[in-house]
Amino acid sequence: MNVYDSQRMADALAADGYRPTDIMEDADLVLLNTCHIREKAAEKVYSELGRIRVLKDERAKQGRETVIGVAGCVAQAEGREILRRAPVVDLVIGPQTYHRLPSVVKRAKTGEKIVETEYAIEDKFEHLPAPGRKSVRSRGVTAFLTVQEGCDKFCTFCVVPYTRGAEVSRPVTQIVAEAERLAEAGVREVTLLGQNVNAWHGEGPGGNEWGLARLLLRLAEIPGLDRLRYTTSHPRDMDDDLIAAHRDLDKLMPYLHLPVQTGSDRILKAMNRKHSAADYLRLIERIRAAKPDIAMSGDFIVGFPGETDEDFEDTMRIVRDVNYAQAFSFKYSSRPGTPGAEMQDQVPEKVKDERLQRLQALLAEQQHAFAKSLVGGEIDLLIEKPGRQAGQFVGRSPWLQPVIVDERAGRIGDIVRVRITRAGSHSLFCEPMRNLNADPMGAAKGESV
Ligand code: 5AD
Ligand code: SF4
Repeated sequence: MNVYDSQRMADALAADGYRPTDIMEDADLVLLNTCHIREKAAEKVYSELGRIRVLKDERAKQGRETVIGVAGCVAQAEGREILRRAPVVDLVIGPQTYHRLPSVVKRAKTGEKIVETEYAIEDKFEHLPAPGRKSVRSRGVTAFLTVQEGCDKFCTFCVVPYTRGAEVSRPVTQIVAEAERLAEAGVREVTLLGQNVNAWHGEGPGGNEWGLARLLLRLAEIPGLDRLRYTTSHPRDMDDDLIAAHRDLDKLMPYLHLPVQTGSDRILKAMNRKHSAADYLRLIERIRAAKPDIAMSGDFIVGFPGETDEDFEDTMRIVRDVNYAQAFSFKYSSRPGTPGAEMQDQVPEKVKDERLQRLQALLAEQQHAFAKSLVGGEIDLLIEKPGRQAGQFVGRSPWLQPVIVDERAGRIGDIVRVRITRAGSHSLFCEPMRNLNADPMGAAKGESV
């Protein structure tokens, strides 16, 4: 979501003549978009600001001014404290007020120090300019699209309900219009974003209530959009319609990020997840019945307060039971203001380290086994960008794995049928079979190979 937000901030500033640069020394405005989810991410902001201060001093010597801003969830959570800890900062702006960025930057340039951390999320989406065609084109053939923000679930470890605020869904018309713009600019794959994306709901054109499944069906009608994804989902919001969409909608990719966090019922309860390990397993059974080739992905936290060896073994067990194609795992990080931070029995760092290592070894094994199981089979590959080596492109499999392909297979934006020949440690290798490209713009495209 921060990637998406950064792009929208760039779009908002484009009207005032700002253009993105890869060279920080050239920047008249440096905006750090920050994450507060774990302590490590939040602390990185201050070390980065130290580096930026040196740069600002250097530029000042050359008579060039630099405006420094902190955006994102650290800005929201720490507000004025950031100005105190890092006086180099000129403006602090929370994630709900990015539409005010152009005026805030103008004020900051007059020397005023600004902290903008109101919750005004409806305004944000109404007033942010639509992504520019040129900027979308330069960003490639896949795009993010935020459909929902914030969270009302209050898991006891998580800062999101405090930093991103209450759950808000964007209206159908706004989402469809943005998706159409993306498709017109050549985007072929859209990932719908939300902290609780499957809780998205909105009013359809006929006045009836839509859920995420209905929205996906509507987006699938947009010419040129060939692949749809969504992330991140909560198990409790995985409704029958959405499961059916995985069965019925070819454009919906067979990949589902569905975090469970832990396999222990005791810890699930303490985390306020409001479901049991068995509930989660039953849910996955239903999803797999509807879409047998779906790849499951998840998030895990080890070392939540009070987690015993036994609880951790339950996590290892659920991982074995589910068999994940991919997963993210973290050591519990105590976040100020969350109930978890007040809990007794915080788990020692050393124990967290050991558990994380064991869990990650198991998850890596499963991820590699999944990749290996694809060798010899054919898949459809969306070519996304040049690879690291000359003569190669990189694309994504339906299951989100990077796939390396010879550049003669087609062009960026093409979907090509390939045969997987080898599973490397992070990517798949393949030989092209034929170019399935149906160019939405009707241009003559790469020949079949
Ligand atoms: N400590 C560790 N991991 C966390 N996450 C969220 N809050 C914390 C925390 N305090 C993880 C969860 C979530 C993912 C986005 O980040 O696994 O699903
Ligand atoms: Fe955080 Fe997700 Fe729980 Fe919301 S549902 S509190 S975003 S972990």
